[in-house]
Amino acid sequence: MCGIVGYIGYKKATPILINGLLRLEYRGYDSAGIATIENNEIVVIKNKGRVNTLANLDGIDKLEGTVGIAHTRWATHGKPSKENSHPHLDNSKSIAVVHNGIIENYHELKKFLTEKGYKFLSTTDSEVIPNLIHYYFNQDSKNDENRLLRAVKNTCKDLKGSYAIEILSIYNKDKMIVARKDSPLVIGRGLKESYIASDIPAILSYTKDFYLLDDNEIVELSKDKIKFYNNELEEFEKPIKSIEWGAISVEKDGYEDFMLKEINEQPRAIRETVGAKLDNGKIEIEGLEFSKEYLESLNKIYIVACGTAMHAGLVAKSTFEKFCKIPVEVDIASEFRYRDPLIDEKTLCIYISQSGETADTIAALKLAKSKGAKTLAITNVIGSSITREADYSIYTHAGPEIAVASTKAYTSQVVLLIIVGMYFAEKLERIDVSILKNLKSDILKLPSQIEEILKSTNQIQEFARKVYKEKDMFFLGRGTDYAVSLEGSLKLKEISYIHSESYAAGELKHGPIALIENGVTVVATMTNPDLVEKSISNIQEVVTRGAKVFVITSEDIKNDGLSWVIKIPKTNTLISPILSVIPMQLFAYYISKEKGLDVDKPRNLAKSVTVE
Ligand code: AGP
Repeated sequence: MCGIVGYIGYKKATPILINGLLRLEYRGYDSAGIATIENNEIVVIKNKGRVNTLANLDGIDKLEGTVGIAHTRWATHGKPSKENSHPHLDNSKSIAVVHNGIIENYHELKKFLTEKGYKFLSTTDSEVIPNLIHYYFNQDSKNDENRLLRAVKNTCKDLKGSYAIEILSIYNKDKMIVARKDSPLVIGRGLKESYIASDIPAILSYTKDFYLLDDNEIVELSKDKIKFYNNELEEFEKPIKSIEWGAISVEKDGYEDFMLKEINEQPRAIRETVGAKLDNGKIEIEGLEFSKEYLESLNKIYIVACGTAMHAGLVAKSTFEKFCKIPVEVDIASEFRYRDPLIDEKTLCIYISQSGETADTIAALKLAKSKGAKTLAITNVIGSSITREADYSIYTHAGPEIAVASTKAYTSQVVLLIIVGMYFAEKLERIDVSILKNLKSDILKLPSQIEEILKSTNQIQEFARKVYKEKDMFFLGRGTDYAVSLEGSLKLKEISYIHSESYAAGELKHGPIALIENGVTVVATMTNPDLVEKSISNIQEVVTRGAKVFVITSEDIKNDGLSWVIKIPKTNTLISPILSVIPMQLFAYYISKEKGLDVDKPRNLAKSVTVE
C-alpha cells in the first residue's frame, strides 16, 4: 500500500516526482524517497517521515536529472527508517528500485542472494529486487541493449506475491523499466515524456492519456518511446485510454481538508452516479445486461467487500431482498475468500470497491469466478484491477476520493446498489411498479436533501465539541439505521481514534447495556416510522442510565424530550442511510478537528489496501 511515481522526459524530474508523491500520500506516509540519474550516477535521497520532509532534505534541490523514480511508503516489512525507505539500490549501486506490494518469498530469495555474496542494508522484502536484477544481469553473457530487460524479466519470474516496480539503472541511463503484478500501475503519456504512478490522480495534472498496465506486463520507457512486453518479453501494442476527471477534482479547492471537500461533494457525486439511469421508463445501466431468465435462475446473491464498501452492501441488502425476493448475504472479502462459501452458477456475486484495487476483494472475486458464478464489480475507478477480472463492471462516477476515510464513495455505492436492485426487480416483475416509481422519485430528491443537511452543520459541530475528549462511544439503530450506524462508528474510529461500537438497538439488553453509565455518549439513529417506538424505548433505556444521546432522526418523526436532535429530510427507509450518514461523517470530522488530528491521513491507515 505504497505510492510510486516516475518520470522520464526532458524536464527536471524532481518537482514532478514530489508533486506526484504528495498526491499519493494517502496510500502511505511513513517514509519517502527519490532517485534520479545525475552525471552517470544514481543519486538516492530518502528518509522516514512525510513527503514534505523529503522535499526539504539536503541535496534534493540540486537534482537535475530528467529520469527519476519516487516512493511514499506504508510499512509492511521493517519499521519506518531511512534504511527501509525506497528506492533501494543493489550492492553495486547500479540499479535502483521502488516497489509497491509484498514479496512473499523474499526470505528464500534473500538466502539465495546472500549465498552468492550479496549484502542487505534493510529489513524490507523489496531490497531483494534490485539485487536479483543485478544477479541476472551479471549472469547474462549477451551484452546487447536488452540485457537489463531480460534481467528484469527473470527477476519477475522469481517473485511470488504482488508488485508494481520502477527500475532505474546506469546500465540504461536514458530508459526506465516498470512492471506489475497484482499492484496498480499506470503510465501517462505526454509529448516526448512519460509519467508513471500508482494511480491516475497523481499525474492527472500532466496528461489525460493513460496506459493501464495489466498483470505480468513489463514496459520499457524512453523519452519518446513506450514498449510493452508480456512476461516472455514478446512485444505487443496496448491501447491508450483518455480519462475525463479534471485535475481540479484532485485539489482541495478551498476546503481545509479533502474529507470535508468530499463530504460536500456528495450531492454532485450522487447526481453523477444516478446519471440518466432513471430517466426513461425502465432503468438502464451501462455495462449491465442481465436477462429475466438469468435473474430468475438465481438462488442467492452475495455482496462482498471490505470496510465502508461492505457497509454499503449491508444497506442495500434490504432492497434486494424486498424487491427481488432473492436471499442476499453480505460478507467481508477477507472472510469470504477463506471460508469456502457455497457458490455455483445460480449465485451472483457483487463486489464493491472504491479503489478497485483491494487485494481481498479481488481474491474473493476470482474465487467466485472459478466456481462458475457471474461476477459484477461496482467501483469508482475506471480500468482498476477489479474491473479487469469481473464479468460486468459498473461505475459510481463519484470522482477521485483522496481522504483515507471514505465518504462520497459510500453514498454513491449505496445509491448505485439500490438502483441495481431496482433494475433486477423491474426485470423480475416481483414487485408492484408503483413502489419502484416512488423510490425512483425519492432517489432523485437525495442530492438536494443532502444540500439541505449540509447547510446546517453548527449543531453537529457543537455536539462534537462537547464530546471530543471521550474515550468510548456507542452507535445504535434498527434495520437500515443499524447498517448505517456501523459506518458512522467506523468513521469515528478511523479519524478521531475514539473507540466506538455499533449495535442493533434490540441487542442492547443482551449485553452491551452493561457498558452504559453516567456520561457515556450514544449516537442513536431512528428514521424508520415503523420502528420508532421501539427505538425510542432503547434511547430511554440509555438516557435513564445517564448516557448523553445524540439522535439522528427524520423530520416526520416525533422526538419529544430528547435534547440533541438532528433532523434529516423525510425519505424512504431503504435509502435513509444516504442522508443519515452525513451527520455521522461530519460528527467524526469535527471531533477529529477538535483533537487536532490529521483528518485526511489517519495513523496506520492507507487509502487503498492492495496487500492482504
Ligand atoms: C473507509 O473509510 C476505509 N478507509 C476502508 O474501510 C475502505 O472502505 C476499505 O479499505 C475498502 O476499500 P475499497 O472500497 O477501495 O475496496
